[in-house]
Amino acid sequence: MLRHSASTLHALIESSPQAILAVSGDGKITHANAITEKVFGYSLSELLGQPIEMLIAEDFKDKDAGLRKDFFCPRDGPVGITREIEGRRKDGTQVLIEITLGYVDTLEGKLAAAFVTDITHRKMLEQIAETSRQKISALAASLLRAQEKERRRVSRELHDTLCQQLASLAFDVGDLAAQTSPSDVAHSHLLKIQARVVRMSEEVRHIAYRLHPSELDDLGLNAALQALCDEVSKRHHITIKVVTKDVSEQFPLEAASCLYRVCQEALNNMVKHSKATRASVALIEEHGSVALSIKDDGVGFCVEAAEGKGGLGMISMKERARIVNGKLSIKTGPGKGTRIDLVVPLTSSV
Ligand SMILES: Nc1ncnc2c1ncn2[C@@H]1O[C@H](COP(=O)(O)OP(=O)(O)OP(=O)(O)O)[C@@H](O)[C@H]1O
Ligand SMILES: [Mg+2]
Repeated sequence: MLRHSASTLHALIESSPQAILAVSGDGKITHANAITEKVFGYSLSELLGQPIEMLIAEDFKDKDAGLRKDFFCPRDGPVGITREIEGRRKDGTQVLIEITLGYVDTLEGKLAAAFVTDITHRKMLEQIAETSRQKISALAASLLRAQEKERRRVSRELHDTLCQQLASLAFDVGDLAAQTSPSDVAHSHLLKIQARVVRMSEEVRHIAYRLHPSELDDLGLNAALQALCDEVSKRHHITIKVVTKDVSEQFPLEAASCLYRVCQEALNNMVKHSKATRASVALIEEHGSVALSIKDDGVGFCVEAAEGKGGLGMISMKERARIVNGKLSIKTGPGKGTRIDLVVPLTSSV
């Protein structure tokens, strides 16, 4: 029975996809399974009785001199410690390995059992994923910057050309109306045309404002946020309390733009999704950072579920925060209202 059980155990160890090695108290390899040969390129006879350090890259040994002593030395410690290290194959090439250690009491004394996985491929895939994540982030950042720049340009164009021309047209039509008699049918027609042109001019001004609020450049973030909240409050009959404290007027443009756009999207979402009746917006500067907080008393939502809905607002809030090294957090839940906090360090802004 003992022989049976020993051969089953042996078969189990040999069938493991991991390399398994046992190391004695003096740091020598006492056992190894067949996969070990594949991972390190040594035959079993070349491994047995040799110091475990032969499987660790020189660079890594230099970096971590106590590795064998502290890590492989059998002891009564916690089992299952896992580390990633640089191993060395017989041909001198390096292999990234993950080692999980356990310690076993045997008739030969206490041994360290090392379960080794070759993670070179996994690390390469992780590296590729990380590189493409960084590229996507960089692309998103430059798209957002380009979008902001373009919005500012189109907004100015609309304001400086179309708005001015419509204003002057309204003036000319008014002038023409003044030259006709009030009893004349053309007079009332002209006044109606003038009113329509004025309305058009206001619409264009509003579009230009939504593209890029001129207050942000001319009067600063406090005034721009106040105007934004006033407008949302008036249009949608939601009471919005605005508190701004100790916020300097001299704001880095990119930080101001980020805070403004995040507040704008949060308020848009509040109007679109929350059914809120009350909200508050607070902007406070302290310890070299500016904290923006937008709260509503609406229906709230489940953040994980919302992420799969295909909206871009939350994603763009996060990207904008990331560009200025800001920290965005969302506290919400069904029936709990929504609170969005953004903290932007002033120094890190470009
Ligand atoms: N203040 C809020 N109250 C309730 N639900 C919200 C609130 N803000 C966001 N949500 C939920 O989170 C989802 C994602 O918001 P997000 O801004 O990303 O997308 P969207 O508003 O649906 O579309 P987009 O912003 O692209 O026009 C929303 O669809 C909504 O379900
Ligand atoms: Mg949205």
